[in-house]
Amino acid sequence: LAESEGYGRLGDKTDDYKPLTSDDIEKLAEAGFKPHQHASHGMIFFRKQNKLWDIYEQKGFAMMQMRFDGTLGFPGGLMDEGETPLQCLNRELREEIGFDPTKHAFSDNEHIASYLHEGKNLVLHFYVKEVSAEEYFALETNTLHAHEYGIETLGIIRVPLFTMGDGLRGFPAFLTNNFAGNARSQLITGLVAAKLFTQEDMTKAIEAYKGFMK
Ligand code: GTP
Ligand code: MN
Ligand code: MN
Ligand code: MN
Ligand code: MN
Ligand code: MN
Repeated sequence: LAESEGYGRLGDKTDDYKPLTSDDIEKLAEAGFKPHQHASHGMIFFRKQNKLWDIYEQKGFAMMQMRFDGTLGFPGGLMDEGETPLQCLNRELREEIGFDPTKHAFSDNEHIASYLHEGKNLVLHFYVKEVSAEEYFALETNTLHAHEYGIETLGIIRVPLFTMGDGLRGFPAFLTNNFAGNARSQLITGLVAAKLFTQEDMTKAIEAYKGFMK
């Protein structure tokens, strides 16, 4: 699925990112990869089957941000010396969205995938976390008080998880934005892994998005 959507105009091509196995990840340090050549990002979501305006099947909400560089991405960032990818994620989330890791820390079993961009020598780790609607609202409200709000983070947004009658507006139209790194691909992968989308629904959405980008 994710392989077939390399249409970003500003973000990197999905094809430039090679998925890594857990064996590959273990060998990265031997291969000379330094902490700052890793980054971790996370998708927080809640699930709620809902009829929006009594018309559209809405699946819930996922959190993304408008970044300082004008692209959309997930909260997260580059690894510091002495950190694991997971520690990096929890620290970056504190900085960027005011997340309290003592209350809601991501855990290793929420790791979904890691990718290598060979040209940039950058390894991207991706995590997905389900929270309750109430937790989500509390996290979202708190983002305005994060250290990086107004600096690295210019706004927290909810991804529309429904498609309108023309088959494009809603989630497929959201995919036409510019994304950082392979965040579009991560979004697609994360929503299917979270079972917010079936493979079929996602394939349809990607086709609508690609049709629009032609
Ligand atoms: P500084 O603290 O200013 O260094 O930024 P940061 O540590 O928050 O790093 P950032 O979030 O910008 O992530 C580092 C790199 O990862 C970026 O230059 C992008 O190439 C890539 N990136 C940023 N956001 C995302 C994202 O949501 N998904 C993916 N896959 N890559 C991203
Ligand atoms: Mn209105
Ligand atoms: Mn950051
Ligand atoms: Mn960041
Ligand atoms: Mn950082
Ligand atoms: Mn920073």
